[in-house]
Amino acid sequence: MNNFQYYTPTRVVFGKETETQIGSLVAAQNCKKVLIHYGGQSAMKSGLLDRVCQSLDEAGIAYVTLGGVVPNPRLSKVYEGIELCKANAVDFILAVGGGSVIDSAKAIGYGVANEGDVWDYYMRKRVPDACLPIGVILTIAAAGSEMSPSCVITNEEGWMKRGYGNDISRPKFAVMNPELTFTLPDYQTQSGCVDILMHTMERFFNMADNMEMTDGISETLLKTVMKNAKILKKDPANYEARAEVMWAGSLSHNGLTGCGTDGGDWASHQIEHELGGMFDVAHGAGLSAIWGSWARHVYKGRADRFAKFAVDMFGVKAGASAELTALAGIECMENYYRSVGMPTNLKELGIAPTDEQIEEMAEKCVWHGERTVGVIKKLGKEDVMAIYRAARKDN
Ligand code: NZQ
Ligand code: ZN
Repeated sequence: MNNFQYYTPTRVVFGKETETQIGSLVAAQNCKKVLIHYGGQSAMKSGLLDRVCQSLDEAGIAYVTLGGVVPNPRLSKVYEGIELCKANAVDFILAVGGGSVIDSAKAIGYGVANEGDVWDYYMRKRVPDACLPIGVILTIAAAGSEMSPSCVITNEEGWMKRGYGNDISRPKFAVMNPELTFTLPDYQTQSGCVDILMHTMERFFNMADNMEMTDGISETLLKTVMKNAKILKKDPANYEARAEVMWAGSLSHNGLTGCGTDGGDWASHQIEHELGGMFDVAHGAGLSAIWGSWARHVYKGRADRFAKFAVDMFGVKAGASAELTALAGIECMENYYRSVGMPTNLKELGIAPTDEQIEEMAEKCVWHGERTVGVIKKLGKEDVMAIYRAARKDN
């Protein structure tokens, strides 16, 4: 087991009607003015936003609002938020939504608390000293941003989707009422479940060893999400299933399933981010569309671990070699994705990138040759192009 630090400062307030506590939770932050940040329609339509405003009114907390965050959240909205916060002396941001709203809130938080262009952090030009404190009311179990240090923003100039992580952006609290996710369309529910699975699998596929405890947590998390995702396909208002998935979403990305590892592979995420930037696809669906092609490209570098995944997760009988067992496990995972209506290639994702677009995405993914992605196999531009092509199902 590798040395590690485990840091999870976020207060989790979990369960039915927990959003009614929002007034007192925000009041405890001793802030003067709040930005309530939200997405397109869902929080307004469900009445959640009205209830949040009412709760802050009753607690005597002043606020301004900014909606309109879209999936794959845009830098232009971040700039708008920074201006609004500065003009109104906002000192706390309440994100009401999913990963996109929370990430937009984190980026605004960096922009308000520091001088200069916030995009610099995503381009690794500077490091922020501070971030405005952030609270979350979660409405979709998926990205895990409610407890993570990460933040992914898309710059419309060049359609670059870039992530930046820093512990100073971890939310102060996350209100998680699984009932708030009942209204999710099935595609978003399943896409969210894929993201949760992938946050765990990205960490599971690593170059480290001897992690019985962490592997056990990971495998239970994966099995729990797969089981409950299937329940939600038939019964979207099943509270217990929503609750299991929601809690798994936070634990999949707060660092727990990476303890003692080398941090994990993460190439699938880097490769997917380019799909999100160029084609605006749902993040989880993009991940399932790419994962099998990535796995087949790299599995020989860690055939033993892929074989363990096959045996422990799917009960695959160990074959003549670790490599054969590994391949059987990859197929099982793809079968699972298909069974919940998630894509396993780019065609099923609904996109058909040209050769030129594939080359552009690969260039961006490896930062024009400045980096490789992944640890099981360090992927350069040619590897990434091969994975996109395989996912395009050229043959
Ligand atoms: O905008 P509204 O109308 O709210 O609709 C949203 C959106 O269209 C809808 N939705 C959310 N809650 C709902 C609902 N619809 C009905 N009922 C509800 N209760 O769902 C759609 C997707 O929302 P979004 O916030 O984009 O989903 P998600 O949580 O999957 O976030 C995706 C973003 O997070 C990033 C992704 O790259 C992507 O940009 N990630 C962030 C991470 C982090 N910060 O730690 C890690 C992840 O790996 C990921 O990269
Ligand atoms: Zn993700």
